[in-house]
Amino acid sequence: MKNRKGIILAGGTGTRLHPVTLAVSKQLLPLYNKPMIYYPLSTLMLGEMRDILVITTPLDQPMFRRLLGEGEDFGIRLTYAVQKEPRGIAQALSIAEDYLDGAPSCLILGDNLFYGQGLGPRLRQANHQSEGATIFVTHVNDPEHYGVVEVDALGAPTSLQEKPRQPQSNLAITGLYFYDAQAPKLTQKLNPSPRGELEITDLNRLYLDQNQLNIEYLGRGHCWMDIGTHDRLAEAGQFVRTIESRQGLHIGCPEEIAWSHGWLDQARMKSAIAAHGGTTYGNYLKELVTKK
Ligand code: G1P
Repeated sequence: MKNRKGIILAGGTGTRLHPVTLAVSKQLLPLYNKPMIYYPLSTLMLGEMRDILVITTPLDQPMFRRLLGEGEDFGIRLTYAVQKEPRGIAQALSIAEDYLDGAPSCLILGDNLFYGQGLGPRLRQANHQSEGATIFVTHVNDPEHYGVVEVDALGAPTSLQEKPRQPQSNLAITGLYFYDAQAPKLTQKLNPSPRGELEITDLNRLYLDQNQLNIEYLGRGHCWMDIGTHDRLAEAGQFVRTIESRQGLHIGCPEEIAWSHGWLDQARMKSAIAAHGGTTYGNYLKELVTKK
């Protein structure tokens, strides 16, 4: 199996966050003390993915490049692609087809925050699964706003619905999807939904029909948030602040993950520290180096 490549979908118009997102991409907004995209990027890195495609609108791409560069500060390789018009999450797999070049993928939505004990090993396990698809699901109180999975007594998936009026369970499908090499080809079979989008739930259903859909359940010790509204933006920021100020440990710090994987050497870390000067973030990175 080729090494799995990551895809971050950071396109879209962020209409629900207007006027905040009129001039700035949603995924560049601050989630407490970091740009939002740091969090999904960190999730992919935790899963040990080092080749990552960042999909943005054409207009926003220069800003993402300015922020993340080629990934050299994080010990990873970033490539950029554009989504000219938002035509659904599954479109990301078509956009990424050439980039993937037959490799399996892990797609994450640029506005999704994942946090919880043991997440890294779970992600690495999914990364090393050679066949089929793996989705991560979690209990929510408003499943009608998400993709929803119905499971049997053994926890195996039996059906998937996209934003059902009457959900069959409280299990929402999060914006984190591991696919084998078939995904771009399978995406070609999809038709746009009534809302005019290539639905990721339809792609997942193709895997389910082939009996190749694995479910990973994120239990109570995990937090998943998608930042679609002003309230969510504030809540998620507050969540990060609460944990960080209590623990003194950062959530979504790409340099920390790179350092822990041995992807950055002392010299690179030193230049990252210098780039952040005497800020809280820079001091945090400094402590990491002295701890080791
Ligand atoms: C999308 C997916 C949905 C998933 C959600 C996770 O919803 O269609 O299945 O549960 O992301 O964030 P959308 O953001 O398009 O409303």
